[in-house]
Amino acid sequence: MTFGSFPTTRLRRNRVDDWTRRLVAEHTLSVNDLIWPIFIQDGNNALTEITSMPGVQRVSLDRLVDHVGPAAGLGIPAIALFPATPPGLKNAEGTESANPDNLICQATRLLKQHFPQLGLIGDVALDPYTDHGQDGVLRAQKTLPGEILYVDNDDSVQALVQQALNQARAGIDILAPSDMMDGRIGTIRQALDAEGFIHTRLMSYAAKYASAFYGPFRDAVGSGGALRGDKKTYQMNPANSDEALREVALDIQEGADMVMVKPGMPYLDIIRRIKDRFGMPTFAYQVSGEYAMIMAAIRNGWLDREKVVLESLLSFRRAGADGILTYFAPEAARRLKEG
Ligand code: PBG
Repeated sequence: MTFGSFPTTRLRRNRVDDWTRRLVAEHTLSVNDLIWPIFIQDGNNALTEITSMPGVQRVSLDRLVDHVGPAAGLGIPAIALFPATPPGLKNAEGTESANPDNLICQATRLLKQHFPQLGLIGDVALDPYTDHGQDGVLRAQKTLPGEILYVDNDDSVQALVQQALNQARAGIDILAPSDMMDGRIGTIRQALDAEGFIHTRLMSYAAKYASAFYGPFRDAVGSGGALRGDKKTYQMNPANSDEALREVALDIQEGADMVMVKPGMPYLDIIRRIKDRFGMPTFAYQVSGEYAMIMAAIRNGWLDREKVVLESLLSFRRAGADGILTYFAPEAARRLKEG
């Protein structure tokens, strides 16, 4: 590529008018790029504000249709469901995840009935269901120093398969394993095929980092308070980038239809590398801590809400993401519609 030099070339020429700026815009954000994560709880007529996520609420099933209606009306293609499991239903093995009448399965059936055109994404990981808050099951690991409790990979995968099948049977469209166990995509894919669920899509949280930006989410689903230890033995080290490519390569080989990077804004470089290398449908999760950070600044009057929300989402598109999971989805959809 050769470039002219000043003053023959003046890059500001293309920025003079709104119409030229629109004409030469390289990336766009549309409602079709948005996925809205929502939180579901038990009880009647319940709507709980999540303190660390201002403007985000957890709703009971009887309020779910009203909660989701406006987003569906705006044309948001899909929502991601997360449960706040009542503490009494949590245990060490997270067995509520395989209950055909758990919050997620009930929500799935209800939403499919009311919004047949809305894509439903079910998370696959045990943390909302375990009393220790880990994404898998704990086993004493004798080979590690001093016999510690360790999130056992293969036993966890077996539990995740049951959770995945349970949600597929309830009618979930996309299963999104967010647990980071090795081999779970392939095992889940085989189990789905064996039951004839050939259209259930797998959106793999392929490059998911052990991040401090998940804090508010753990408040929302109630998995943070009791969390024993950290998740560093399965979620990725924020220092690594090549490793993300290997994670994605494996998940594609095992049958993922879409891959995800998480968190989002601090990991835009990872999105770009993955998109360039694999050309897969690539998604990014603007996680709870990113939402909290932006909202805190907005509420202090330090950032302009009108502009900063869409700019933050456009950055994902520029980095190569096909779509974004974001708590701002309804607001962004409204702003995009209003132009
Ligand atoms: C569960 C899961 C987490 C998030 C999505 N699925 C939390 C975690 O891994 O601890 C975080 C989402 C967010 O922070 O918005 N495995």
